Amino acid sequence: MGISHRIKMPKFKSVLVTGGAGYIGSHCVVDLLNAGYDVIAIDNFANAVCDDEGSPALRRAEQITGKKIAFYKADLLDKPQINDIFDKHDVDCVIHFAALKAVGESMQQPLLYYQNNLLGMLNLLEVMRSHNCYQMVFSSSCTVYGEPEKLPITEAHPTGSITNVYGRTKYFIEEMLKDLSAADEKWNIISLRYFNPVGAHPSGLIGEDPTKEFSNLMPYMSQVALGKKPVLTIFGNDYNTPDGTGIRDYIHVMDLASGHVAALKVLSDAHGRLKVYNLGTGRGVSVKELVDVFQRVTNTNIPIKYVERRLGDITAMWADATLAKEELGWTAQHTIEEMCTDFWRWQTMNPDGYAKKQKTTFIAVNGKS
Ligand code: NAD
Ligand code: WQD
Repeated sequence: MGISHRIKMPKFKSVLVTGGAGYIGSHCVVDLLNAGYDVIAIDNFANAVCDDEGSPALRRAEQITGKKIAFYKADLLDKPQINDIFDKHDVDCVIHFAALKAVGESMQQPLLYYQNNLLGMLNLLEVMRSHNCYQMVFSSSCTVYGEPEKLPITEAHPTGSITNVYGRTKYFIEEMLKDLSAADEKWNIISLRYFNPVGAHPSGLIGEDPTKEFSNLMPYMSQVALGKKPVLTIFGNDYNTPDGTGIRDYIHVMDLASGHVAALKVLSDAHGRLKVYNLGTGRGVSVKELVDVFQRVTNTNIPIKYVERRLGDITAMWADATLAKEELGWTAQHTIEEMCTDFWRWQTMNPDGYAKKQKTTFIAVNGKS
């Protein structure tokens, strides 16, 4: 970052969160409200529960924080609608979570993914520019790295050799953001590459409740623990890892949320054009290890069956999160045990997700309730 780019930015007050009713968005909104930001949230409910009054996840975020959110049911593909929202609010910064994210679906419906994720982003950037708003935090993914050449992965690792359409949308957007920030120094963007987000808010009030099919390990495993699915299939036990199962960097969703608040503080202090940070714990955990911890802390029994490797899966991946520590002052705080306990609290308090009223008690964690 050159000195000439160090234009003093005003401190942010209002943050527009796209995809705010989704899993990571709703948790981040809680941290933003707690940090004193005014939140304007939008979502089209492509993958979030909607009821007569809007987003139950965001109402619960209001309940947790005691603060109000300005929510709009809106689609990023509807540019006039997004424009209207920016006309109504003085937006200082955007956190852009809204995207479709199912890897399998993206392979079957590439146009849907390119349209939603790329066009949605283009519309958003154009509306932001026309409203003189040049600050953005973008939800990127460790998927942009493809098969790691070296572990742990730093931000300098090459990107782009990705085997699925979803991942390519993240890569293409990062490339687009590079071009944009190179062309116009007013842009001030942070791209956060998340590793594997899991867990839920410790209150048990908000958590992960996708409306589309999902196949991620933690939600699937907890469906098995709840007895809603008969068995957890582990995709491969012949990887070149200590126990033969795949290794990932699981990160508590509340650590991700605090990473966004840290990113906003840096964005509002310095003009950085485009910066990229890994958000991970720096620790690799195998599938087998995660299943063992989950069973132990939740006092459940998860039947498992080993099957063939899943096509496109990577052997092992974990982050070097040093840059986020040095420049954002952020490190992940939560343990694997907390990720499992908090996810289970959410699941057992809300066995049907947001669709039904939450229970007031949850199934014992380690024998305590
Ligand atoms: P999510 O599906 O729970 O949240 C995304 C939200 O965006 C959903 O509520 C969906 O309804 C909304 N949305 C999608 N398209 C939209 C559109 N055109 N207009 C308005 N709203 C729209 O997913 P999440 O896990 O919370 O992920 C948030 C972001 O983080 C996504 O960009 C995702 O790609 C990225 N990410 C997620 C993970 C993960 O494993 N969960 C990992 C890395 C990166
Ligand atoms: C984790 C591990 C599986 C389910 C995905 C996206 C990636 C990013 C994060 C958004 C792997 C194993 C899983 C199961 C299993 N998302 N597994 N049985 O594949 O690391 O990444 O989410 O950007 O783009 O691809 O996450 O939770 O699906 O899998 O054995 O039923 O669990 O093989 O080793 P993944 P995951």
